[in-house]
Amino acid sequence: MKISIVGAGYVGLVAAACLARLGNKITLVDIDKERLKQVSQGVSPIHEPELAEILGQVDIETTSDYQRLVDSEVIFICVGTPSNDNGSMSLEHIVEASRRISEVLKVKRDYCVIAVKSTVVPGTTENAVIPILEASGKKAGDDFGVCMDPEFLREGKAVYYYMNPARIIIGELDPRSGHTLANLYKDFKAPVMRTSIKTAEMIKLASNSFLAAKISLINEIGNICKALDIDIYEVAKGLGYDERIGSKFLNSGIGFGGSCLPKDLKALIARSRQVGYKPKILEHVLKLNDKQALRMVELLRRHISLKGATIGILGLAFKPGTDDVRESRAISIAEVLLKEGAIVKAYDPVATQSFATLFPEIEYTTPEEVLKCDAVLIVTEWEEFEHLDYRGKIVIDGRRILKAKEARIYEGVCW
Ligand code: UDX
Repeated sequence: MKISIVGAGYVGLVAAACLARLGNKITLVDIDKERLKQVSQGVSPIHEPELAEILGQVDIETTSDYQRLVDSEVIFICVGTPSNDNGSMSLEHIVEASRRISEVLKVKRDYCVIAVKSTVVPGTTENAVIPILEASGKKAGDDFGVCMDPEFLREGKAVYYYMNPARIIIGELDPRSGHTLANLYKDFKAPVMRTSIKTAEMIKLASNSFLAAKISLINEIGNICKALDIDIYEVAKGLGYDERIGSKFLNSGIGFGGSCLPKDLKALIARSRQVGYKPKILEHVLKLNDKQALRMVELLRRHISLKGATIGILGLAFKPGTDDVRESRAISIAEVLLKEGAIVKAYDPVATQSFATLFPEIEYTTPEEVLKCDAVLIVTEWEEFEHLDYRGKIVIDGRRILKAKEARIYEGVCW
């Protein structure tokens, strides 16, 4: 099929690469010309396994000119929806993309489906996107179709999960719109659920709310376990045998970061409050998550005075497998350490560059140098941290790196 993708961020890039590999003709649109240049040269602008390899093999047309979308059968909107100061979702990029697509619709002859892939709060596609598209003079449901096709992208394994999704959710304005997308996904071996647009929007936010709540709940139980001298990982193993609970997402530690879980929860909380419901559980999930990262520093203070001490941080990415530091727990930890007068040294296999733009005052160095600090904090569970020599060190572990238990003083956050 002829597919256009608006937005060359994580979601758009992965979709473009995977759909191109499946034989579709892809046009990728973005305002960032440097990024597009990299893609056209087969270079991945982000660290994501398999992505660079696929980009090197497929042919993707890259452009900043929306009129190139005029032949598309499907146009995916994959632009970012960052948080406003009050936690609500900023629709700035969605609105701009819709406006530009509306210009294309004015001159477009054949039917096409506009599919929102960006995460948005329920009602956004119908109340914000469709009216802008209809400003073209064309009618949604007649002249063009509209779907909401939430992305369940998992950074670090994004290509794998795009190709092997747990489910495909198609929120459709009408059967013809949904049928077009279902046809695009016909070879994927995953259950396909067709539903209303706002239900699809809610499935995405509810999914991330559940995942976030699961992590905060296991962290809270972990904090209790630590106080009672019980191993939370053994407890989690016992819990996981119950299929109603499941064994995944029960890794307690310093909590969740990334571009989705914190942002999506904030957006759902803000929307919920707007309609008169105060979502206390979700609010607590976020509060606990913020406190959890700082527990590391509290534990550190039990062993060392921070002022003037050199403190090492192992891991800066919000999780292994990515160079993404958005909402990484390392951010609030580094802030407190620096504020309290510690000298901070840090190592991450791929994320130092992005972290250095936030914290130029930190010294970025090798893991061996980090281990020479007065104390070391393990913030991301990179596999290579299982092969370092921690003997004689003071280590506070936020991610359960078993090898670190050999340290002279070892404290796990919840164990
Ligand atoms: C998440 C969702 O998993 C995905 O479905 C959605 O589309 C986008 O948000 P992602 O942000 O890539 O994906 O990361 P994820 O693997 O969910 O991890 C989020 C955070 O939770 C990380 O900081 C991770 O370290 C933390 N986490 C995860 C835990 O602390 N414990 C766990 O058991 C699992």
